[in-house]
Amino acid sequence: MSDKIIIFDTTLRDGEQAPGASLNIREKLEIARQLVRLNVDVIEAGFPIASPGDFEAVKAVSQEIKGPVIAGLARSRQADIDRAAEALKYAERGRIHVFLATSKIHMQYKLKKAEDEILHLAVEAVKYAKKQIDDIEFSPEDASRTELPFLARVVEAVIDAGARTVNIPDTVGYAIPDDFASAIEYLYAHVPNIDKAVISVHCHNDLGLATANSLAAVKAGARQVECTINGIGERAGNCSMEEFVMALKTRKDFFGSLHTDINTKQILTASKMVSHLTGFVVQPNKAIVGDNAFAHESGIHQDGVLKERTTYEIIDPEEIGLSESKLVLGKHSGRHAFKDRLEQLGFSLDNEELDQAFERFKELADKKKSVFDEDLESIVQEAFAQTVPQVYQLDYIHISSGNRNIPTATVRLKKEEVIFQDAACGDGPVDAAYQAIERITGIKLELVDYSLRSVSKGKDAIGEVVLKARYGDKVVMGKGTSTDIIEASARAFIDAINKLVRDSVDKGSDITKQGNV
Ligand code: KIV
Ligand code: ZN
Repeated sequence: MSDKIIIFDTTLRDGEQAPGASLNIREKLEIARQLVRLNVDVIEAGFPIASPGDFEAVKAVSQEIKGPVIAGLARSRQADIDRAAEALKYAERGRIHVFLATSKIHMQYKLKKAEDEILHLAVEAVKYAKKQIDDIEFSPEDASRTELPFLARVVEAVIDAGARTVNIPDTVGYAIPDDFASAIEYLYAHVPNIDKAVISVHCHNDLGLATANSLAAVKAGARQVECTINGIGERAGNCSMEEFVMALKTRKDFFGSLHTDINTKQILTASKMVSHLTGFVVQPNKAIVGDNAFAHESGIHQDGVLKERTTYEIIDPEEIGLSESKLVLGKHSGRHAFKDRLEQLGFSLDNEELDQAFERFKELADKKKSVFDEDLESIVQEAFAQTVPQVYQLDYIHISSGNRNIPTATVRLKKEEVIFQDAACGDGPVDAAYQAIERITGIKLELVDYSLRSVSKGKDAIGEVVLKARYGDKVVMGKGTSTDIIEASARAFIDAINKLVRDSVDKGSDITKQGNV
């Protein structure tokens, strides 16, 4: 058995299922390009039958991304499998990932089917998918709550039917490392044809054990791990790629020759990109990629690290791509230097994107003396966001606010080159700006969450606002940046509205029709 652990990244599929984390095609492609730089083995790009947007994203990733295997998810139904095969048609190497639940609880309540029927459906689905693409993965959903003898029968049968990878999902994050490892060992002992497939694991983090369970599983023989950047995913998320990869690398003494091919120097860029694009802020104490992961507060620790780094640091920060943020550019820097630095940071922009980003950089460099790498990253994310249709664009904002007057906002928005303007009062400048935007668009949002942080250091730092807003039963995320925090707040609100509009247009019920403009 090989000692290489295949990294199957599902940031674009399970990760995107995290409530409020919807990504457009452009953003998915950007993340996929970064996954190539990370050198992942498999990219699960989406669930093609779930929506036209998902289908188009899997198709776009298949068309553009070369190197990793591109996987598309499908239930054990012909229509799902056909749709996945259609989206994967252009992939250099495509994989259909078929799943069907096997636990008693799912079979009885969700599927209302008996064991033999499930077994038959799983085998038929794998055989059907195999006719379209050779590389088939099968997942017995809720495997960690499936009775082991039945799980072993299913695994044996789908391998016989042609599955090359069999994934054992801990769908509800119920597993405990020792127990999960025993289940993998059980399968190795009771499935006679197990050597014909790669055994994979897919762990959710409901008990905070997703990484621990994945590590225990590879010790027990699993050779593929499904994971996401920053551990995002359904509910409490999935196994975090950076944690799994760095645990294996750092504890070679324990894991021996087990290894991944991940280019760990790309981890931090990937983490920041996913956080920016999904709006999911990484908690400061998050292992490996949190802001505090390499910060030493205690005097004793600082003293120790200065004398010998390894006294309190088990990972060299440079291994994950963390270097001291440098002052790189200023207002006299040219387009060439700007492009060069972006490339060093791992961003490849086409000409249109570069023009937009450079214009933004010049505006920023006029307002802000020191432009840091973090500022550049934020500019680039914004340039990417602007290449997708922006229904409403902020043209002008004026705020009157203070401790003795009524906060008032005048806002001008551009929609298809036509300017709309309105003004409103609020209980603060942000509220006033949001009310003015609502008056213009006629789209009323309930603000569920709002956070403001500085992207880099200094009093003149860029402020980044990330918010979540509810419209009917849909929760949408918006983000905006500016050196002016009210402007950043307005941009975030408009971003959320644009996402809602885009979504409603995709679904054929344009919500701007209900609005004023
Ligand atoms: O958690 C899960 O069971 C899944 C499957 C589709 C693999 O995401
Ligand atoms: Zn999952």
